[in-house]
Amino acid sequence: EINAKVSELISKMTLEEKVGQMTQITVTIFEKQGAKGVFDIEKLKNGIQTHHIGSILNVPNPGAPTLQKWQETMNVISGEAIKTRLKIPVLYGIDAIHGASYTTGATLFPQQIGLAATFNTELVKRSAQISAYETRASSIPWVFSPDLDFPRNPAWSRMWESFGEDAYLSSQMAVALVDGFEGDNNVGSKYSVASCMKHYIGYGSTTTGKDRTPSIIPERLLRQYDLTIYQAAIKAGAKSVMVSSGEINGTPVHASKHLLTDILKNELGFSGVIVTDWKDIIYLHTRHKVAETQREAVRMAVMAGIDMSMVPEDYSFYTLLLDLVQKGEVPMSRIDDAVSRILKMKFELNLFQNTVANLKDYPKFGSAEHIEEAYKTAAESITLLKNDKSVLPLDKNEKILVTGATANSMKYLNGGWSYTWQGENSDTYAADKFTILEAFQNKLGEENVLYTKGADLEIEDDGEIQKAVDLAKNASKIVLCLGEKNYTETPGDISDLYMSKSQIKLALALAKLNKPIVLVLNEGRPRLISDFADHMSAVLQCYLPGNEGARALVDILYGDVNPSGRLPYNYPKYPNSLEKYNRKYTESISEGEQNDDAKYEKSYSPQFEFGTGLSYTTFKYSNLKIDKAEISSSDDVNVSVTVTNSGSKAGKETVLLYLSDNFATITPEFKSLKRFQKINLAPNESKTVTFTLNQKDLQFVNNDLKWVAEKGTFTIRVADLNQDFLLK
Ligand code: IFM
Repeated sequence: EINAKVSELISKMTLEEKVGQMTQITVTIFEKQGAKGVFDIEKLKNGIQTHHIGSILNVPNPGAPTLQKWQETMNVISGEAIKTRLKIPVLYGIDAIHGASYTTGATLFPQQIGLAATFNTELVKRSAQISAYETRASSIPWVFSPDLDFPRNPAWSRMWESFGEDAYLSSQMAVALVDGFEGDNNVGSKYSVASCMKHYIGYGSTTTGKDRTPSIIPERLLRQYDLTIYQAAIKAGAKSVMVSSGEINGTPVHASKHLLTDILKNELGFSGVIVTDWKDIIYLHTRHKVAETQREAVRMAVMAGIDMSMVPEDYSFYTLLLDLVQKGEVPMSRIDDAVSRILKMKFELNLFQNTVANLKDYPKFGSAEHIEEAYKTAAESITLLKNDKSVLPLDKNEKILVTGATANSMKYLNGGWSYTWQGENSDTYAADKFTILEAFQNKLGEENVLYTKGADLEIEDDGEIQKAVDLAKNASKIVLCLGEKNYTETPGDISDLYMSKSQIKLALALAKLNKPIVLVLNEGRPRLISDFADHMSAVLQCYLPGNEGARALVDILYGDVNPSGRLPYNYPKYPNSLEKYNRKYTESISEGEQNDDAKYEKSYSPQFEFGTGLSYTTFKYSNLKIDKAEISSSDDVNVSVTVTNSGSKAGKETVLLYLSDNFATITPEFKSLKRFQKINLAPNESKTVTFTLNQKDLQFVNNDLKWVAEKGTFTIRVADLNQDFLLK
């Protein structure tokens, strides 16, 4: 039915109207001179009526609008759209990547890296349902999320926007977010939004770790890892995709017909909208230098398969594309393909009926129920990495010094894309939320918590360090909160992965006191802590846990919540040792280790390995069973394992199943994650978890770019247990 409506509409459209649909303009160009957030109606008319624009891109203004303000904004936009000849609604898109973060009072969840650390797809899906509800309440139907990047260098400034280093975990999380945003294939509901997978493809894999710098990725690896994440999200129904601003093997993705049309549209069957990233068609000319003119850049990108251009600050794309079609350099069939995808998405979103939200339909916006979900998600994400001599949980009667640059600020809990692009205003907007210090004070009473900042994130200050050292003398334990300033994209580029010098200095000064220190990390990527980690009694990774993160953290520190997050990446110890967990045998140089798995596992010691996550209880694994010792190429493999809570506290445990292909024509990885399940166990309770592996799980991409499984033995690894089976 939608296809028929799309065809009918297309048949009535002029070329100008079609090219307009493919144009996305930033909202700020419609503003009155000098008046932030106020429309100049003449400018808006010029966009919507004269240039027929299909989409508007949000740009974070200072000042997060209220729901009412959003409603007024959308009323003005749709009021102009309704006056056009064909009354085609304008699609408004926004970077609401961890909640409806650009609306006052919205519920803010952990950033994606924290979602991955929960290993709990139900919770993650729920976070997207709530984000969708609150974004749609703000009258916005399209979010630029999830981020499906596959970071190959942990220094990358958008590491925290990803699901970490494993493609299987990322795929599962991607599906959870797409299902949550799009209401399980019900994107037309007033509580759903269209998702946008980004940044297709290879964006997170720059060689230097710096944003938008070149990547070298053999297609074999692109297919084995990166593409599988997109494939899963496309299968879940993702409606749109944003293209990577980077280049792979010398070709900017925006100019690659192979990646956009041959693989994404044709091979993976993606039938949604391909939108560019910010100004990226212009950059084919000005930055990548593959197009001698901007006109050539437009031709290249549209012929590669781009459907919509985030231009976003002028009408150059519109004018140039019009000319290219009129002169026969871009065929009408390509334009019709792009426009039908855009119109299809607008119909699927029900925008023709329902552009502006009726606020009465959204009573749960920012409600206690939603906040509780954000709290639960943060609580399941926070990852206990070290707990020597059970220094945690803390005792409420102990005197605690809370110190460190991230201890008393909301912005470090939220990170980028929170209210503003770099999230630097989060302190202002989250005024009624709690920082780590405030969460301590709420738990213990203000008078019972010692606090001093101790260090700035970047600037060294010996006086502040001395204050912290002096105060620490009156405390029995120290909670040291370290991390990073807010960042995303190029402003987040770093040349040194170590934690900043000012913070290392504070950690070492406190370490000299020989008191137990609980290190709380509040960071988007693993900043190296090897200079002082051995002096820390406990280490918790909070990632960027959102507005409810501090409360969740302090509840964990006092044992009111049992931690259950798991690290979604290897936390490196040294800058020259950035291996992923699924490394190859040759990454150990000792033959003894290469031939003995147990020794091999021990030969590599990152600061903390992928999957690490301690609990206040203990879990024992037993009875690892595979239903067949030998299988043929059409068989599934059923694996079961029993997990027992052998400690005295109820707790959640993530059962991780890894597979090793012992010999293969492409050097095999030592182990790869194939399944996981998070379970809840009371003390002494046991549960048997069963996983089914299929043939696809045994396959890898060979040099002919084909997925193949090769006969031979495979090893299943779960915790400290393993079992072999043979593929005949
Ligand atoms: O969605 C973002 C993208 O992740 C980075 N560049 C700008 C886009 C729109 O704001």
